[in-house]
Amino acid sequence: MIRALQWWDLDEVLTIEAEVFAANAWSAETFWAELARDDRYYAVAQQGERIVGYAGLWFNPPQADVQTLAVAPAAQGTGLGRRLLSHLVDGARERGCEQLHLEVRADNDAAIGLYRRSGFVLLRRRERYYPDFSDALVMGLDL
Ligand SMILES: CC(C)(COP(=O)(O)OP(=O)(O)OC[C@H]1O[C@@H](n2cnc3c(N)ncnc32)[C@H](O)[C@@H]1OP(=O)(O)O)[C@@H](O)C(=O)NCCC(=O)NCCS
Repeated sequence: MIRALQWWDLDEVLTIEAEVFAANAWSAETFWAELARDDRYYAVAQQGERIVGYAGLWFNPPQADVQTLAVAPAAQGTGLGRRLLSHLVDGARERGCEQLHLEVRADNDAAIGLYRRSGFVLLRRRERYYPDFSDALVMGLDL
């Protein structure tokens, strides 16, 4: 089931965040600040009682951005990333957005594969964009 993220999901979300993003993980404060904004939408994927993934959207029609997307390591490769992304695409359309953009590390093959499969195209490359000097790809989808 994919549904809106509630504040009581944050403990589980933060555990996944630390597992998948390690040193680059967002803090609890960052999530709280994101959830407090009215131009954001966050969703979780729930299996039974457990949260197994989450995704966030920044919408400012006609533009929207994917803020984050993550699936717990044990649940990766089962289609959840694709479903969460598709949920954000629908959410952006419902809010009147016409383009959805995102940034992804140029060496993140799994994420880039997912975005390409979902119709995103490469818009530009930002060289040495991240603190460790790796490049970012900016990708976009016309909604
Ligand atoms: C990127 C991520 C969200 C993908 O989620 P997922 O649930 O594992 O992906 P799915 O099972 O939905 O797969 C969807 C598509 O992604 C691509 N993909 C997924 N894993 C891949 C891998 N290891 N290598 C290459 N492509 C991959 C494939 O194109 C796949 O489509 P296919 O199954 O038809 O071939 C997940 O790997 C993740 O959380 N990674 C760590 C956090 C992260 O990097 N987030 C993105 C930040 S921009």
